[in-house]
Amino acid sequence: MKVLIVGGGGREHALAWKIAASPRVEKLYCAPGNAGIAQVAECVDIGQEDCPGLLRFSMEKGIDLCVVGPEAPLAQGIGDMFAREGRPIFGPGAEGAKLESSKAFAKDLMRRHDIPTASFRVFDRYQDAVEYCLPPRLPLAIKADGLAAGKGVAICHTAEEAERALQMMMLEGKFGEAGRVIVAEELLQGTEASLLALTDGETVLCLPSAQDHKRVLDADEGPNTGGMGAFCPAPALTPEIHGQVEREVLIPLLHALRIGEIPYRGVIYVGLMVTQAGPKVLEFNVRFGDPETQPILARLESDLVEILQATVEGRLGEVDPKWKDGSSVAVVIASGGYPGSYEKGKEILGLDEDGGIEGAIVFHAGTKRQDGKWLTAGGRVLSVTATGADVEEARRKAYEGVRKISFAGMHYRKDIAR
Ligand code: AMP
Ligand code: GLY
Repeated sequence: MKVLIVGGGGREHALAWKIAASPRVEKLYCAPGNAGIAQVAECVDIGQEDCPGLLRFSMEKGIDLCVVGPEAPLAQGIGDMFAREGRPIFGPGAEGAKLESSKAFAKDLMRRHDIPTASFRVFDRYQDAVEYCLPPRLPLAIKADGLAAGKGVAICHTAEEAERALQMMMLEGKFGEAGRVIVAEELLQGTEASLLALTDGETVLCLPSAQDHKRVLDADEGPNTGGMGAFCPAPALTPEIHGQVEREVLIPLLHALRIGEIPYRGVIYVGLMVTQAGPKVLEFNVRFGDPETQPILARLESDLVEILQATVEGRLGEVDPKWKDGSSVAVVIASGGYPGSYEKGKEILGLDEDGGIEGAIVFHAGTKRQDGKWLTAGGRVLSVTATGADVEEARRKAYEGVRKISFAGMHYRKDIAR
């Protein structure tokens, strides 16, 4: 069969690596892909948000399965466009994607279906929001309603911080339309973890849990990033908590989608805070996490294509994936300056001809191949991933891999999975 992956980061490289290994796949494309992905797939020059272009390409090539990595095309309705033409796609339509593209939508759905989450209020008028975000209610997490590339959340302890965040979002339009409406929610205390589950609308199938590290510096200091590393499984998600999330979050969510007549065939990423009072939902994403996908898929022994196909065809109940015992760890190597501005085009030393190294799996997030050299081409450049009998072994192997690689300005966290 022919498969198309949409996207071009480390998550898509991990998907491509696993999909290319499937005996079912005769041809794999990735749009737009990157230089690492090009080692296992044919990269095509179509932007990941060019939904009509992606559909046209799929029809021309007779693509049997399209797997969408990032949220933007899903929010724009790529799922509906493919469905209208009868083309198989892994990922929800625009209505389902609102779980991620509108925090107000997601929170309202959780409230109506008693899914545990932080208490909250939604505002579309600045004055009302400022009057609400005052001392007895502080601290609060103030969130832009729409997609803001992971930057739309401000944790506010004082009235000044809250006012500043609200001004930026609601008056100055820092996130454009995405910040016109905001959600102000109670600050939760606990340990964060992620549970990703596949669903075909009937069955939910949980993947092993994961935990990412969002801050740029060791000990969770510095600004937020897309994610500086991740590991799998997450110890905070004990079997008991895991069961609780299935019963209290995933099953009611599936029910809510059904009665809302929202078809959903893809992955649901549940971002959780495990609190003293049990797990509570911080956010839903309607796609695989980046970098969580890298350590999760590193542990998958079964054929990923069979699982994705079963999801798309409504046969998820038939599959029973096998996972490697132990743990896995992915360490992200980033460009100097990231998550702020950074330079591209630095030569990466230490990678072999295929863009890999011995002893670990190197997923490329932002690289370019030029005149036989590997060059940096993004903020997050590589994620070096390893499995082990336990988290210590996986971490040691991942960091041994990281130390083989160098380029000017590179930085990475030293405490992933510690
Ligand atoms: P979100 O995009 O909603 O997951 O928020 C991004 C990050 O902000 C989360 O990963 C948490 O670290 C933090 N955060 C968001 N909401 C809350 C909350 N209600 N309580 C505590 N931390 C939060
Ligand atoms: N690593 C967090 C995310 O993919 O949203």
